[in-house]
Amino acid sequence: MNLEQIQQATRELGQGWGYPHAARVAQLAGIVGEDLTYDREAFAYAVYLHDWGAFPKYFQPGVDHALRSRQVAETEILPQTTLAPAVQALIAEAIELHDYRDRRPHTSVESLLLREADWLDMLGVIGVAREFAWGPNDLQQCYTRILARRAGIEGRLTLPKAQALATARIAQMERFLQALQEESFGLL
Ligand SMILES: [Fe+2]
Ligand SMILES: [Fe+2]
Repeated sequence: MNLEQIQQATRELGQGWGYPHAARVAQLAGIVGEDLTYDREAFAYAVYLHDWGAFPKYFQPGVDHALRSRQVAETEILPQTTLAPAVQALIAEAIELHDYRDRRPHTSVESLLLREADWLDMLGVIGVAREFAWGPNDLQQCYTRILARRAGIEGRLTLPKAQALATARIAQMERFLQALQEESFGLL
């Protein structure tokens, strides 16, 4: 299996959100990791595979989606590639550590970059749009989740370009959420 096939499978399995989210994470990582030295090929595999554990085909109730994504990548997908075992291990580890609720330290540049790019996609207007799309059709519930995610991410980005993007995105979010409260009379 090569990267293109994995991208195609991400399109097919990732409902509406999986592929565009991964593609945005790739874009974000390109920006915030511009000056870093890392294995760009390995990283691309990690990006497209990082949320497979949340896709219906692989999701398992009670198993953290990042760990599940790692299991799927490690046991089913990466062994079908020509990547060296050490590179496969690097990818698997970056996938497992990507979630913002995971407080363990990163173990490689690739794992750092994946998490910070992934977190940025939860901030800003795109972050808000993702939460409302996620549902349920209950604005207050989505709103509360937006605040919780933002609180879980804010202040935790370490790459200078990621910090700058996060600041801009949080300011945008703040403006949006303010307008939402005003237009709704606080009735969400
Ligand atoms: Fe994730
Ligand atoms: Fe993600």
